[in-house]
Amino acid sequence: MDIIEQIGEAGIASLAAAFYRRMREDDLVGKMYPPDDWEGAEERFRDFLIFRFGGSQKYIEERGHPRLRMRHLPFKIDSAARDRWMEIMTAALDEENVPSPARESLEEFFAQTADFMRNTPD
Ligand code: HEM
Repeated sequence: MDIIEQIGEAGIASLAAAFYRRMREDDLVGKMYPPDDWEGAEERFRDFLIFRFGGSQKYIEERGHPRLRMRHLPFKIDSAARDRWMEIMTAALDEENVPSPARESLEEFFAQTADFMRNTPD
């Protein structure tokens, strides 16, 4: 079943909010985010997910093609950073009680994408 159909754009928005509440407190990956633009970072991530799963096109209209790997090159992402990012996302998925099968689809997508973002040897 379609993720947007199952949890709605509102479900994705609350997942992004839960993720950033935790990320703000993180001492490893959290430090990479712009300290004066947490709201903007959350908005970009939320809009990207909504676009990626077939909802509103706002992300593309405002940011263009995602080119995620290129946009992550300024940050040193090794396997420890990837694992921490996934831990925080898993905690957010738990907190939001995202139902199956959206939960499994999202988790697989996040794990693959996070691994693809690695750009620094351990
Ligand atoms: C693997 C560990 C990751 C780290 C350390 C990381 C870190 C970051 C940082 C520091 C930013 C800049 C924040 C901003 O100002 O927007 C960012 C942006 C972003 N990240 Fe990640 N990220 C990771 C994985 C992911 C994954 C797995 C996804 C998608 C599933 C993702 C999607 C995005 C998006 C959509 C943006 C905004 C791109 C834009 O500028 O339009 N990131 N990330």
